[in-house]
Amino acid sequence: MVKIDFSKTVVNVPFEAYADKVKSIDAMIKDKTGLGNDFLGWTTWPKDYDKEEFERIKKAAKTIQDNYEVLVVAGIGGSYLGARCAIEALNGLFSNSKVQIIFLGNTLSSTYIAQVLNYLKGKKFAINVISKSGTTTETSVAFRLLKELLISQVGKEAAAKAIFATTDKARGALKTECNMEGYESFVIPDDIGGRYSVLTAVGLLPIAVSGADIDALMKGAYDAMVDLDNNDLKTNPAYQYAVVRDYMYNSGKKVEMFVTYEPQFTQVGEWLKQLFGESEGKDGKGLLPDSATFSTDLHSLGQFIQEGTPLLFETIVLQEKPALDVEVKEDKENLDGLNFLAGKKLSYINEKAFEGTLAAHVEDGKIPNVVITVPTMDAYNLGYLFFFFMKTCAMSAYLLGINPFNQPGVEIYKKRMFKLLGKPGY
Ligand code: PA5
Repeated sequence: MVKIDFSKTVVNVPFEAYADKVKSIDAMIKDKTGLGNDFLGWTTWPKDYDKEEFERIKKAAKTIQDNYEVLVVAGIGGSYLGARCAIEALNGLFSNSKVQIIFLGNTLSSTYIAQVLNYLKGKKFAINVISKSGTTTETSVAFRLLKELLISQVGKEAAAKAIFATTDKARGALKTECNMEGYESFVIPDDIGGRYSVLTAVGLLPIAVSGADIDALMKGAYDAMVDLDNNDLKTNPAYQYAVVRDYMYNSGKKVEMFVTYEPQFTQVGEWLKQLFGESEGKDGKGLLPDSATFSTDLHSLGQFIQEGTPLLFETIVLQEKPALDVEVKEDKENLDGLNFLAGKKLSYINEKAFEGTLAAHVEDGKIPNVVITVPTMDAYNLGYLFFFFMKTCAMSAYLLGINPFNQPGVEIYKKRMFKLLGKPGY
């Protein structure tokens, strides 16, 4: 369950004025009559997902856990960010998972790729290659290199068993390869775009391999789908948040900074940046999504946020109860002068950092803040949050008059790059 607090937005948001528009956009989403209406599969996915495939994902995850030391997840953008976000948010940055999960296919850096390939030498590793199109350069290049190493270590037959592909159900180079080589494959539904796909096999297989509870993740998303199936702005927090975002944008705020106080939620910010940035940043419009991890980034960006160009508002994603806690002990000598914190838990100190920063930013800096709180960041609440943000994003983009589900601008760099690389046809 998500709680959202709009009491620190500095300005009074005129919710009433948006009520009818929100109702008509909600109807447009339900009737699938708006821009990008071919990509609304995510709206009912927590109920309609393929149950047989879901069981197959759990089985494949178990096979990977039982037989391999490392899973290399090769994907980029929507075929990468959700899985990484969930795995880090749920397991932490130093996890005890049976299988180590490494991400590749998300960069063209020769150094990073060479380091990963060196690291994998002599290790028992499996590959989950994820690409809807099957032709994304970063992913395809990484997959080719990974396959070469895998085959050299275990032979072609064992390599084919260690490769799990998540791609289109019928089309594309990767699907053709799956059919020819016999890789186990999972489907990215036609009507769900990359940045809305974390609850499909794209996210579910790597998340399940990490040991996280994908049943609870889907249950959280399902409950959000039910709770947020409501066109009344007075009682729908996802739509209220969309309205606040729109009002901020129209009042001159051009940046939304997503803030967390947990390093293991940093990737939640990365997932949000893609979701909102790719959905809304078009036609010369849209809030620029940015992200920060406090209190770390208060020591770098904090100065700008407090006193720099007043172009941003903050959206804080908090949890009430952290996974782990530590107490600061009394020290007789008190050379560091920290005895005023003796007996206090770190969660308490972090909470005061949040409260102090909120007061500094809102009261002194006049920076609007939205505060989103979950009881704790477990799989259920993360599933809830994923759906909550997707619902907000669709409403926000439609309020701006934008198609929330395409990304025409992403293709432009690819065309330039392909021309320079001599790809046939460019
Ligand atoms: O959201 C998107 O559509 C993109 O970020 C894609 O997910 C990304 O480019 C990867 O594409 P693909 O899954 O086709 O390899």
